[in-house]
Amino acid sequence: MESHRNATEVQMSQLVLPCHTNYRGELSIGQLLKWIDTAACLSAERHAGCPCVTASVDDIYFEHTISVGQVVNIKAKVNRAFNSSMEVGVQVSYEDLCNGEQWNVCKAYATFVAQGKSNAKIRLKPLVPQTEEEKTEYSIAAERRRMRLAHTDTIKGLVTNSPVQPEHENRDCNTVVPAEKTRVESVELILPPHANHQGNTFGGQIMAWMENVATIAASRLCHAHPTLKTIEMFHFRGPSQVGDRLLFKAIVNNAFKNSMEVGVCVEAYRHEMEVSRRHINSAFMTFVVLDAEGQPRTLPVLKPESGDGERRFKEASARKKIRLDRKYVTSCKQTEVPLSVPWDQSNKVYLSYNNVTALKTLVAKANWVLAFETDKVRMYTLEEDKFLSIRIEMTVCIDTMQAFLLLSDLQRRHEWDQHYVNAELVQQVDKDDMIYRVISQTISDENKPQDFVILVSRRKPCSKGDPYVVAFRSVTLPTHPADPEYTRGETLCSGFCLWKEKDELTKVSYYYQATPAVLTYITAYIAGLSSSFHSTFLACEQFLLKNKDDDSVRLQNLSLCSLSPDSLSPDNLSPDTDTI
Ligand code: COA
Ligand code: ADP
Repeated sequence: MESHRNATEVQMSQLVLPCHTNYRGELSIGQLLKWIDTAACLSAERHAGCPCVTASVDDIYFEHTISVGQVVNIKAKVNRAFNSSMEVGVQVSYEDLCNGEQWNVCKAYATFVAQGKSNAKIRLKPLVPQTEEEKTEYSIAAERRRMRLAHTDTIKGLVTNSPVQPEHENRDCNTVVPAEKTRVESVELILPPHANHQGNTFGGQIMAWMENVATIAASRLCHAHPTLKTIEMFHFRGPSQVGDRLLFKAIVNNAFKNSMEVGVCVEAYRHEMEVSRRHINSAFMTFVVLDAEGQPRTLPVLKPESGDGERRFKEASARKKIRLDRKYVTSCKQTEVPLSVPWDQSNKVYLSYNNVTALKTLVAKANWVLAFETDKVRMYTLEEDKFLSIRIEMTVCIDTMQAFLLLSDLQRRHEWDQHYVNAELVQQVDKDDMIYRVISQTISDENKPQDFVILVSRRKPCSKGDPYVVAFRSVTLPTHPADPEYTRGETLCSGFCLWKEKDELTKVSYYYQATPAVLTYITAYIAGLSSSFHSTFLACEQFLLKNKDDDSVRLQNLSLCSLSPDSLSPDNLSPDTDTI
């Protein structure tokens, strides 16, 4: 029997020919971006049933280069439809036809917006995920959308606030290249083959032209053929049509020891006489220069131009730090994530993303086994890799938002969880993220009480049917080092998911992923543990019922929200989009 096939899945296979390659005989990334965009667009249109345009493509890391004669396999499918936009996930691999081996090249997430005949905004039909993998992608797509829409502000904030550390690198190559020597300017006329049947330019074509000018700028710094390693978020700010002229400008913003950042900016205009130009896109690309052994070569030092050049030089350093931190946090496999990740203000968006994503991945798992059931409470277990996870759930007569606010406040947890002695709010990161230091009653092997430093990240539903989520994970904070009076405990991934069943009726699920250290204890004492979870959970129900009508909980939350500038909207207690 054929396994489930996603109706939006589009596959594309391309044989890499000499006409697709660069000077190094490798597939040009511009060509690959065109194929990715086409496959993703066809997948989006299959779901939307009407033409779609590329709104953005998230950061891409290229793991391998692809040589002439090899086959590129691209798989695209819609992960989630929001209102008029969809997230399409694209997986790119390549295959060596001579030995049949396959390698992953990159993963890309593109957002497409459906465009109707009139200018009215299209309302897409929802996508219903079927498999565990589809459910995980669907759930996490909401997190990625949140990051994407805040991307410009996030980067701006981080770049302004992060101190730029001088690079103490020994460069054997002392050549200094003035930035202006790397400047490129190039124009393209948009012709029918560059556009869809409605005359809108293909996003992939623009990305390919951008990659082309960026490569020229990079080559001018190193006088060699560079290799593109990463691209940072393409955001198409506005459309361009057949007949438009596109002006591409690129320059090397900064050269580090082994990599350089090139910035590209695209503007559109219609007539030579037109003075005002439309800003279409800006992107930043990181290149390396590989020697004959495939090792990165040391690059010359870049001397930035004064004014904008110096600003871009500093911003490129800040972006490099953010890129490395983000890669560390978001690309780790779940089984390789350290128990506590170091908290860093400049990395808060990705740590929060990672916290919520780990919980959402656990929630979407399909193999939960019912371990214990009473008339009120059900407990499930899940064994996977080195981990044992526990899920315990019940239905409580309480409004879901009220339960969400009560359970995300760790300072009140001692009212129902006997393991908690107290929780001190160490840092209110933003309205949805808090760091607490928790003191637990559990006595460690060292005969000392335990303490934890925990990041709490909470999310309201993105659309109807989504749960409210409160995720917990350990972080390390330089201001709160281990205290000799306590044993510092660590928690991997835990939290609540709250589903609205009806008005005043909420399904409350608590998830807990055991660390390998406590796993033996848990498997040996599963019966005792069930009864301990059971009694704690019943106490939790009593706590929720006792406070179900307490208006001060919402008021307190409102005053907290008013501290953060992005939450001044009157609906900051309503779900995150208008789809409910
Ligand atoms: N990344 C992903 N999605 C984005 C986005 C971004 N940076 N900016 C906006 N969107 C999404 C919004 O979330 C919204 O989705 P939803 O309806 O599912 O909630 C959708 O785009 C429309 O947003 P809206 O605020 O109504 O419109 P806008 O004025 O921000 O326009 C575009 C968004 C994408 C339609 C507009 O910028 C555009 O036309 N860009 C050019 C698209 C194009 O022609 N691409 C091909 C190459 S030029
Ligand atoms: P920013 O200046 O904040 O980086 P822009 O959108 O103006 O943002 O430009 C994006 C990138 O495009 C710049 O970082 C730079 O690398 C490149 N760029 C912008 N303007 C020019 C120009 N006139 N000549 C060459 N490159 C440019």
